[in-house]
Amino acid sequence: MIIRPETPADHTVIRKINIAAFATHPFSRQTEHLNVDALREDGALTLSLVAEEPSATGSRVAGHIAFSEAHVEGRDLGWFLLGPVAVWPDLQRKGVGSKLVLEGLAELRRRNASGCVLVGDPAYYARFGFRQATTLIYPGVPPQYLLILSLFGSEPSGMLSHHPAFDIEP
Ligand SMILES: CC(C)(COP(=O)(O)OP(=O)(O)OC[C@H]1O[C@@H](n2cnc3c(N)ncnc32)[C@H](O)[C@@H]1OP(=O)(O)O)[C@@H](O)C(=O)NCCC(=O)NCCS
Repeated sequence: MIIRPETPADHTVIRKINIAAFATHPFSRQTEHLNVDALREDGALTLSLVAEEPSATGSRVAGHIAFSEAHVEGRDLGWFLLGPVAVWPDLQRKGVGSKLVLEGLAELRRRNASGCVLVGDPAYYARFGFRQATTLIYPGVPPQYLLILSLFGSEPSGMLSHHPAFDIEP
């Protein structure tokens, strides 16, 4: 399996993977595919990676991960929001999601990012080093699901905000 940046030929499958992966997710509003499209249209999809695996007909995209800027107190301090990350339901729990997260974080390090935040299950993301973000406030998000991984320097304090693409209505 290879992890590589998305190309225009991947846009449709990225949309389909996000729809399928989040269809039964308990906390999803099923807008993830719209969020990714809106980020891309606004030039705000900082990093968009796909996992491509060999298949009988050549290769297929198994999963996708997106990163965009996250601002603290309205300022760009080099922090990024991880998400959405999605794997085709029949390909989950085979390591695809982990590879996408690890390669995404490695690329953020190469770009000298300060760190990464996300909203997600601490039981899953702890394996990558994410911890509960105790110095940030993200309106509408229960603190136990706001997770942070510092790559360089200290953790920022204050109000976290995302790109307007995440405010899209279903
Ligand atoms: C979450 C997701 C991206 C993980 O990708 P994946 O390829 O299935 O995950 P991996 O195979 O790399 O990792 C599997 C491990 O994670 C665990 N895991 C997967 N999803 C989990 C979850 N939501 N909570 C806790 N653990 C989880 C599995 O139990 C497994 O643990 P193990 O290695 O100890 O056996 C994928 O399951 C998915 O698309 N889910 C639906 C969409 C979603 O929830 N996205 C994340 C929103 S924050």
